[in-house]
Amino acid sequence: DGRWLCQYKGFWCPVRCFRPIISSQRHFDARDTDILLASMPKSGTTWLKALIFSIVNRNNYSIDQTPLLTSNPHSLVTFLEFNVYWGNDNPDLESIPSPRMFSTHMPYELLPNTILESKCRVVYICRNPLDQFISHRHFLLENKLEKDAEPLAIDDAFEMFCKGIHPFGPFWDHMIGYWNASLNNSGKVLFLKYEDLKEDIVFSATKIAEFIGFSFSVEEEKLGLIEEISRLCSFDNLKSLEVNKFGNRGVIQNSSYFRKGEVGDWTNYLSPLMAERIEKLIEMKLKGTGLMFNTYSKDS
Ligand code: A3P
Repeated sequence: DGRWLCQYKGFWCPVRCFRPIISSQRHFDARDTDILLASMPKSGTTWLKALIFSIVNRNNYSIDQTPLLTSNPHSLVTFLEFNVYWGNDNPDLESIPSPRMFSTHMPYELLPNTILESKCRVVYICRNPLDQFISHRHFLLENKLEKDAEPLAIDDAFEMFCKGIHPFGPFWDHMIGYWNASLNNSGKVLFLKYEDLKEDIVFSATKIAEFIGFSFSVEEEKLGLIEEISRLCSFDNLKSLEVNKFGNRGVIQNSSYFRKGEVGDWTNYLSPLMAERIEKLIEMKLKGTGLMFNTYSKDS
């Protein structure tokens, strides 16, 4: 149901995020050393938070002492648009020592200007839209996020998704904004796909570390640190932690961030016709951008 979404500059934002978005645009003062994680919801945000937190803090905590073992990744890297205590009223963000890490679901076009003007880095992760849709649906069913909104029947929700009416959607515009920004050689945006991380996490973690200016040294590589961090941040490991089994952040159960963590789970819920519709939509919307999206059906 679109009642809890409002359209702003072509994007569908949850109403409760609207003021924080405007507020962050007005007050957020980016530093060159900031690292921003960007994504659409249910595209691998939690995973990316765990990875980047671990990469940046690898000299501050040993693997068996890291706060990641006792805190949900979302408590370690805060969302810009869910932080309502903003700007002038909030000295907290200013007092965070550099390098600061933030995350956002905001589209590239809506990012605060200081992010675009500073040298801060943006790491974007996206996911095949069919899995993202299914993941989001489970998340909505598990958590009562919006007081008045009962989740729609799957066919109706899918219809809305295809029309772009989805948190921070349309998904194609969200992806294209970051995709284009990643192409202009400024080194501002690193564009990642969830499926690529699943395929080779050590390669992806190395790439992320390099991009954010925290490359692994030859000694660290030899010690197997990249593999260790990848294991620490793996789905199975994070899901098994007490804090992620039983904890919650307000109305959101930590466990709901760790459902299946698979590629192609949509085949268990969506018909081939629905998949075909999305495939056509992707083809049409991404045409000419150079961005390719495989829907990763189990048969392909
Ligand atoms: P599923 O619902 O398909 O299982 P986000 O973090 O953006 O909210 O996305 C959540 C999705 O990422 C969920 O997908 C979740 O299971 C998956 N996920 C969370 N942590 C993960 C990890 N460490 N590795 C792989 N997938 C992970």
